[in-house]
Amino acid sequence: MRIAVITESDALETRVAATPETVKKLAALGASVSVQSGAGLASGIVDADYEAAGATVAATAAAALDGADVVLKVRRPNADELKGMKKGALVLAIMDPYGNDAALKAMADAGVASFAMELMPRITRAQVMDVLSSQANLAGYRAVIDAAAEYGRGLPMMMTAAGTVPAAKIFVMGAGVAGLQAIATARRLGGVVTATDVRPAAKEQVESLGAKFIAVEDEEFKQAETSGGYAKEMSKEYQAKQAALVASHIAKQDIVVTTALIPGRPAPKLISEDMVMSMKPGSVIVDLAVERGGNVALAKPGEVVTTPNGVKIVGHLNVPGRLAATSSALYAKNLFSFLETMVDKAAKALAVKWDDELVKATNLTRDGAVVHPNFQPKTAETAA
Ligand code: NAI
Repeated sequence: MRIAVITESDALETRVAATPETVKKLAALGASVSVQSGAGLASGIVDADYEAAGATVAATAAAALDGADVVLKVRRPNADELKGMKKGALVLAIMDPYGNDAALKAMADAGVASFAMELMPRITRAQVMDVLSSQANLAGYRAVIDAAAEYGRGLPMMMTAAGTVPAAKIFVMGAGVAGLQAIATARRLGGVVTATDVRPAAKEQVESLGAKFIAVEDEEFKQAETSGGYAKEMSKEYQAKQAALVASHIAKQDIVVTTALIPGRPAPKLISEDMVMSMKPGSVIVDLAVERGGNVALAKPGEVVTTPNGVKIVGHLNVPGRLAATSSALYAKNLFSFLETMVDKAAKALAVKWDDELVKATNLTRDGAVVHPNFQPKTAETAA
């Protein structure tokens, strides 16, 4: 069983799909692991660390991929990388499959068995493989750190001989995994924290972290959580009521962190241009949804925008990658935990159980075809 780990080719990507810790665990499963030289550098891991853990270091991606049965990646492989992979190789990564039909076809054509880690079911057995949670948690933390860095004032209340500094008012929109960690971080830094969500279950979680919950709690709100635990897209009427509530609240806030997402759909628009304009100069908004269309008007992907009224809107891309060492450590552990279920430990060989629910939920391509039911290529008839 040969496993390859290569340097991420996306310039934005600082994470790596294996750490010395997971290399050791993979070796214990009977694998030989080949890591491309420099793959871990942006996460603070040097080649010698991988070698000490039992990996071989390959000079190039092609050399690492040569003959590999399994490829571990952070992002979906591109055409060049696919060329170096053997037919039937398993590829585990964050695949970003929605709306990327051509890229899925390219993986099918390359003959690899690809697995989208973000489609992992959120069931107890798979918690340790849940990349959305492991990375969103860190993004939520980092969003508050980034906000604090952009904010020209202190966050906690400070009573000093030279005067009293008031605590920052911090509002978190969307209280899922990222939002809850943002709330916890903002509280630890001494902010006065409020939060909102459309799912009723979020209320208790927000309050248990010591923040105040603010939401339009009507009949629609009571039904807003899907059986999968996610938010539904809310009606126009609800959105209008929510906007009215947010508009009056937001003008008084110093820092706003938005994290709202709806699976497979563009992010909901929560903060309008008027709302941004109502905020005080020096206020900071961090839009964690900016890569998925954004929650905030005027947010620009990859930029920190300063508005004419002096509000900073932070739109960093790949926020988990801004604390790459920690994100890589948790992501690599997620990958290892999933791959471990595909290995026959006695035979020390790959033995994928294709009918396992985790495999079925994540497997995008196999044997030259896109096999996932949610990503079937459109025929001319269905497209029409
Ligand atoms: P997400 O990343 O899809 O969305 C982030 C948050 O935005 C969610 O809380 C969502 O309700 C909220 N949101 C969506 N539209 C909104 C709107 N218009 N206004 C305000 N907020 C809005 O969600 P995430 O973080 O993946 O969590 C979804 C659920 O899954 C949560 O209930 C979480 O606790 C649960 N979960 C369960 C796990 C398990 O059982 N293994 C693991 C991780 C999460």
